[in-house]
Amino acid sequence: MNVVVAALKGGVGKTTTCVYLAALARAAGRAVTVVDADAQASAADWIEAGGDPALDGVTLVEAPTERLLKRALAGTGGEPVVVVDSPPGNERLIGLALEHADVVVVPTRVGGVEWPRVDVVREMVPKRTPHGLVICSARTFTNDYDETVRYWTGQGVAVWATIPERVAIAAGPDARLSADGLEAYRPLWRRVQRAAG
Ligand SMILES: Nc1ncnc2c1ncn2[C@@H]1O[C@H](COP(=O)(O)OP(=O)(O)OP(=O)(O)O)[C@@H](O)[C@H]1O
Ligand SMILES: [Mg+2]
Repeated sequence: MNVVVAALKGGVGKTTTCVYLAALARAAGRAVTVVDADAQASAADWIEAGGDPALDGVTLVEAPTERLLKRALAGTGGEPVVVVDSPPGNERLIGLALEHADVVVVPTRVGGVEWPRVDVVREMVPKRTPHGLVICSARTFTNDYDETVRYWTGQGVAVWATIPERVAIAAGPDARLSADGLEAYRPLWRRVQRAAG
């Protein structure tokens, strides 16, 4: 199962989503590979930081070029869960990852400025590939949040999960994955599994 976490926009929560999904897939007893297609290697740094039992046994493949990404994705398939973290702004690499996706997760944030960027990614997803949004770092008690959910639902776009803004989630590789974060990402993991069939 290739799960591609893709957004064109920087800083929306791609890497955080990728790492939490990898941990949840591990917790479910699955073999997990994280393919880091971002030259910034944030997911790679996070997984290599070590010391977090939640990420024990996650295999890391760094693939920040088209050649490496093609090779990484061709070598997968079958039983393991592969979570691909994508680089912001790189339409070619994102497009390549999307071609190999079984399920696509598009992280976004609250607010109307995000909407057109999300649509560009949605249009890049192959027609038959299931995809859904995860609204990251959300203040769920705001009107902006309600409006964002209403907007996507009105567009017929699945909002698979909302991850609240949490200091513990923002800690990144400097701390262990937070219980809150794992709890918040769990519904997304379930939706991803269901979508993958
Ligand atoms: N639920 C959350 N609560 C608080 N902070 C969050 C949450 N999710 C993500 N962040 C923070 O938002 C910032 C961007 O997240 P992340 O690095 O996952 O995004 P990205 O899309 O991978 O960014 P880039 O485009 O630079 O690769 C980070 O500082 C991260 O810790
Ligand atoms: Mg990132």
